[in-house]
Amino acid sequence: MARVLTGIQSSGRQHLGNILGAIRPAIALANQPKNDSFLFIADLHSLTTIKDAELRKENVLATAAAWLACGLDTDKSCFYLQSDIVECTELTWYLNCFTPYPMLANAHSFKDKADNLSDVNAGLFDYPVLMASDIILYDANEVPVGKDQRQHLEITRDIAKAVNHQYKDEVFVVPEAKISESVMTIPGSDGRKMSKSYGNVIDVFLPKKKLKKQVMSVVTDSTPLEDPKDPDTCNVFALYSLLASEEEIAVMRQNYLGGNYGFGHAKMALFELILSEFETERTRFDELMANPEYIWNELKKGADKARPIAQNTIKRVRNVMGY
Ligand code: ADP
Ligand code: TRP
Repeated sequence: MARVLTGIQSSGRQHLGNILGAIRPAIALANQPKNDSFLFIADLHSLTTIKDAELRKENVLATAAAWLACGLDTDKSCFYLQSDIVECTELTWYLNCFTPYPMLANAHSFKDKADNLSDVNAGLFDYPVLMASDIILYDANEVPVGKDQRQHLEITRDIAKAVNHQYKDEVFVVPEAKISESVMTIPGSDGRKMSKSYGNVIDVFLPKKKLKKQVMSVVTDSTPLEDPKDPDTCNVFALYSLLASEEEIAVMRQNYLGGNYGFGHAKMALFELILSEFETERTRFDELMANPEYIWNELKKGADKARPIAQNTIKRVRNVMGY
C-alpha cells in the first residue's frame, strides 16, 4: 500500500478550478483501495501571509466544507489540520538544521518575492522546510502536486536523504512527487488561469444570486447577438464544455455557429449547468457551514489517526540525533 499525502492551502474559498483540478482527482485517488490517503489543510503555512485569526478559521472551515461537500470520505482518507499535530513544527526545526541556506534562497517561492525583501518574513523563507516536514513526518511515499510544487518536492527529497546519509540509517522515507501533467488548467472569468490571486474565480458554493453575478461577468468579445460566434475562443464555451455532456456541448456549438444566440444566453445556460452539476455539493456545503462543530470534529478525528504516526517518526529522529 502506498501512502499518498498532499497538503491543501487554506488561503481562501475553493473555486471551480480547485474542484476540477485538485479536489476531484484527490478524492478519486483516496477512493482507490491501494492508496493510504492523507490530506491535510496547511493552516501553519497560511500564517506566512494571513495574520487575522478569524479569517484563518473561516478559511479553514470553508476549505474543509468544500472538500467534504465534494464527497471526501473521511473513513477512506485521513483528513486533518496541519496545526493539530505539534510534532510537525518540532520536526521542522530538526530539518532546518539539515537544509543548506542556498537551497532555500534559490526556491522560486522565495525568489519571486526576494526583490521586496522587507515584505518577506522568515516563515516564508522557511516555507519549503515546513512542507518537507509535512511529508516526511508521515512516511509518505507519493505526493500528488501541481507543477508549481516540483521544486519543493526536490527540496524535501534532498533533506530526507541528507538526514539518512548523516545517520547511515533509513530514518526517513524519501518521497516521490506525482506531478499531474494531464490535469488541465481551468480558465477564469477573464480567460487567464482561474486563481484566487487573480480575482477571476467561479465559486460554485456561493448563494445563487452572487454565483449568477460571477457567471454573468465572464468576459466575452463584442460579436453582436445576430452574428455567428466562435465557440473555440470563448471563455463561456470553455467553462460550459468542462461540465456538460457530449450532446450538450454539440448543441451549444451549433448555437454559437448558428447566430441569433447571444453570450447572455450562453452564460445563463452555464449558470443553470453549474447549479445542476453542483446541486448536491451546494446543499451539503451550506449544511456543513451551518454546523462548524461537525467540521472541527471531523478534522479532530483525522488528527487522532495521524498523530501516532507523527509521534513514531519523532521518536526515531530523537533517537538517532541523540535527544
Ligand atoms: P489558487 O491559484 O486559486 O491560489 P491554489 O494554488 O491554492 O489555487 O491551488 C490549489 C490546487 O488547485 C492545486 O492543486 C492547483 O493545481 C489546483 N488549481 C488551482 N487553480 C486551478 C485551475 N485554474 N485549473 C486547474 N487546477 C487548479
Ligand atoms: N505548498 C503547497 C501548495 O502551495 C501546499 C502544501 C503544504 C503541500 N504542505 C504540503 C502539498 C505537503 C503537498 C505536500 O499547494
